[in-house]
Amino acid sequence: MLIAQITDIHVGFERGNPDEYNLKRLGKVLRRLSDGPNRPDLLLMSGDLTEYGDAESYARLADAVAQCPVPIWPMMGNHDLRGPLLDAFPQTPASEGFVQYALDLDGLRLIILDTTDEWRHGGAFCDARARWLASELEAHPSTPTVIAMHHPPFESGIAWMDCDADEQWIARFTAAVSGHRQIVSILSGHLHRNIHTLWNGIALSVCPSTAPLVALDLGPIDSAKPDGRTMISDEPPALALHRWDGRQLVTHTEAVGDFPAMAHFDEAMQPVVRLIESERRDG
Ligand SMILES: [Fe+2]
Repeated sequence: MLIAQITDIHVGFERGNPDEYNLKRLGKVLRRLSDGPNRPDLLLMSGDLTEYGDAESYARLADAVAQCPVPIWPMMGNHDLRGPLLDAFPQTPASEGFVQYALDLDGLRLIILDTTDEWRHGGAFCDARARWLASELEAHPSTPTVIAMHHPPFESGIAWMDCDADEQWIARFTAAVSGHRQIVSILSGHLHRNIHTLWNGIALSVCPSTAPLVALDLGPIDSAKPDGRTMISDEPPALALHRWDGRQLVTHTEAVGDFPAMAHFDEAMQPVVRLIESERRDG
């Protein structure tokens, strides 16, 4: 099972431009998924699908992903609006007014959370969503489960983007997942960078964005004193591939670009492949 994840696409950042930069970056990533060596089983779009939540941007996104050869599962981010998202992707399940649903993937459950309060930048997770998550987890206690949520529930050190680890929505989320040992991983977005941590004993990965990345600057920030630091950088668009082999979820990320190959599998490389193969047999 190969789960592809793309995130923070931000279609419509250049209002009214059907040929905008963020759509070009998305196109490169989609071509990599469809034409590259790693055809996924599904594509998760983990929020901030558009910049302003407008119907025109969702229509452009739906058009861009229409040729994608695998099922597409959208999620809410803080730049999204539920109504226009569901209009553009009507196959998306929703419950109790939130874009939250669970997928059964051949022995693995993928639970999609909605961590947005519309027009709020940071995360949100109310009692109703916490109850829904807890009931989903209680109903399938022995099925390995991955949780996908746009907002990561931890402080990354990129100060201007960070939440406070003591926010109430994080406490509600923590209580909902507490004691559910079937959770193998949490997949997030929002921070526009590739970040990994162990959160309450659960592996957590943040997928880098297809839109331009958030610059890696771990220094403190004073909102009263603009210091000229780089905040957004034009690093390559990226994707994540989460490989489930029945025992373990392994997360890969890939920056997408026209990078030259430095070696091919040919007669020159064949001894290396054979050596590693023989060690694997003998190990
Ligand atoms: Fe976001």
